[in-house]
Amino acid sequence: MDFPAAFKPYLRRVEAGLDRLLPDAATPPGRLHAAMRYSISAGGKRIRPVLLLAAANLGKGKPAGDPIAAAVAVECIHTYSLIHDDLPCMDDDDLRRGKPTAHRAFDEATALLAGDALLTHAFALLATRYSRKPALATALAAELAEAAGSRRLIGGQMADLLAEGEKVASADAIDFIHLNKTAAMIEASLVMGGLCGGLDRRAISTLRAAGRSLGLAFQAVDDILDVTVDTARLGKTAGKDVKAGKATFVSLYGLEKARKLAAGHSAAAVRRFRKLPGGAPFLVAVAEALAGRGN
Ligand code: IPE
Ligand code: IPE
Ligand code: MG
Ligand code: MG
Ligand code: MG
Repeated sequence: MDFPAAFKPYLRRVEAGLDRLLPDAATPPGRLHAAMRYSISAGGKRIRPVLLLAAANLGKGKPAGDPIAAAVAVECIHTYSLIHDDLPCMDDDDLRRGKPTAHRAFDEATALLAGDALLTHAFALLATRYSRKPALATALAAELAEAAGSRRLIGGQMADLLAEGEKVASADAIDFIHLNKTAAMIEASLVMGGLCGGLDRRAISTLRAAGRSLGLAFQAVDDILDVTVDTARLGKTAGKDVKAGKATFVSLYGLEKARKLAAGHSAAAVRRFRKLPGGAPFLVAVAEALAGRGN
């Protein structure tokens, strides 16, 4: 498969959806809405919304609902999590998606509020855009709330901060961090796509399991890139994890083993995607491309 060519139409749909479904930058207060759009449109790989759209495409026949609003909701949550992740009280980063972080481009309070507003907007989209399909709206909101909530994304972020500076974080602690701060949203993106596509329960649980593996691979690769790629290519400050004393795959296992583990998780994701209707070649290609990124 020509992966970049296959990725492009999904990406185009995501970008158009983001532009259409976010409040206009001129909406008062303009500074807040400009900050929301600044962080969203700074770029980003859009992996989560693309996974969502691709999973929705696996449904045969009539889809349960148009997946675009759910895809935008997922990217809103992800972008909010990055804005807050970069704040001085968290990872204290100056660069994100190749641009100054929101609190640098605006100010800390505006960045905090832009993150809050993106988080709230995600759930508003699910409630309003699927109101004619209440069962789907509820299922999407429940899935996203669980993934973004205190047991998962936020819990993972808390654990990440608590582990900072610990001499040797345990493998269990790192698994908890990766599974929750990162894999949760990747799992949820695939599951929400499956729900929009009207997939059966079996396919949805395969998507969940594949998302877990893909998410673990994704964070392992993020940890690897922090030590192997320069700031310009990363679009965020390289070498930050070591400086901050973060518990990462690389700090625990070293680079070579981290690479092996990342490849193992990607391969597990591929095996699971292959069990989906039609063998899900695009999702398989996403997992394979991710494995390539870490090397
Ligand atoms: C960065 O996510 C944060 C992690 C969970 C590793 P991405 O690598 O998907 O960031 P963008 O969206 O492409 O900027
Ligand atoms: C961030 O993990 C995960 C979330 C934002 C939920 P990192 O702190 O490793 O992400 P980067 O490296 O800053 O993108
Ligand atoms: Mg962080
Ligand atoms: Mg960070
Ligand atoms: Mg990182």
